[in-house]
Amino acid sequence: MPVPALIVHGGAGDIPPAEHQDYLAGCRVAFETGWRLLERGQSALDAVEAAVREMEDNPTFDAGVGSVLNSEGEIELDAMIMDGAQLRLGAVAAVRGIANPVTLARRIMEESGHNILVGEGARQYAARIGLRLCSQAELTVPREVARYREFQQAAMRARKLALIGHDTVGAVAMDQFGNIAAATSTGGIAFKLPGRVGDSPLVGSGAYADNLSGGASATGHGEAIMRVLLSKTATDAVASGLTAQEAADRALQILRERVNGEGGLIVLDRHGNVGFAHNTPYMAVAWRGPEGVMHVTMQAERGRTGTR
Ligand code: GLY
Repeated sequence: MPVPALIVHGGAGDIPPAEHQDYLAGCRVAFETGWRLLERGQSALDAVEAAVREMEDNPTFDAGVGSVLNSEGEIELDAMIMDGAQLRLGAVAAVRGIANPVTLARRIMEESGHNILVGEGARQYAARIGLRLCSQAELTVPREVARYREFQQAAMRARKLALIGHDTVGAVAMDQFGNIAAATSTGGIAFKLPGRVGDSPLVGSGAYADNLSGGASATGHGEAIMRVLLSKTATDAVASGLTAQEAADRALQILRERVNGEGGLIVLDRHGNVGFAHNTPYMAVAWRGPEGVMHVTMQAERGRTGTR
C-alpha cells in the first residue's frame, strides 16, 4: 500500500530575513494541515487544497490575504488544482475579491463542466456556489501597500523588481491509494498589469499531477515558467526515470538555460519521494517523504541540491 507523502512551498524569491520565521512557521502549519488529512485517510486533493488554503489565509504569503498589489493597487488572484488520478483540473485567473481561490478552482473542476474561469465570471461563479466573497481591503496588508509605493516610485525600473519579496504557494501530495494531486495559488508578481495571468493557473506550467509519474508545483517569474511548462517538464523527467530531486534540478536548469527564468519548484514522484530546486535567493519548503520524518527549511540558494 502506498505511503502518503506531502510537500508544500511558500514561494521562491528574495525573501527578507526578517520574514523568514513567518515563512517557516506558515509552511509548517500548512504542511501539518494537509498531513492530518492524509493521516485520516482523506484524498491527496483534500490535502493539497487544505494546505494551500492555510497559506492563502496567512498574510505572510503571496496568495489570498497578503497578496501583492498590481499596478492599480488592486489584488487579482490565480490558482489551480489538478487530480492526477483522472488528469482533471480546475483553475481560476485574474479573479478579484475571493479569499480562497484554490477552493474555487476545485469547485470549478468538480462542478462547473469547465476547467478555467477568469475575472468577473469566476467571481460570479464563486458567488453562485456560495463561496465567501471579500473586499479588496480584506485581502490587502500594510506590508504590500508599502511595497506598492516603492514600486510606484521606481515604476519604470526593470520589471525584474517584481520578484523582490515573495511569490506563489503550492503543494503536491500522494494519498494512501497512490493518487497524486497538486495545487498552486498566487497573487502573481508585484505591480503586474491588470488582467495579467501568470503561470500558476496554467496546466503544466504552475502545476501538474499524473498518478503514472508524479506531481509538481512551480513558483517564480510566470512569464518565463510558462514558456518551458516547468511543472510538466519536471513530471516528464520523473517519468523518464529521474529521481524527484534530479527532475527538479533538470527542470530548473531548463528554466535558467532556455529562457533565463527565475523561480523554483517542488516535485513528488509516484513512490512518494520528493525534491525541490530554485535559483532565487530563498525558497521555503516543508515535506515528509517515505522515511517518515517532517522537514521544514528556508532553503538558501547555495546548497539547494541533494537527495531528499
Ligand atoms: N508565479 C506566479 C506568477 O508569475 O504569477
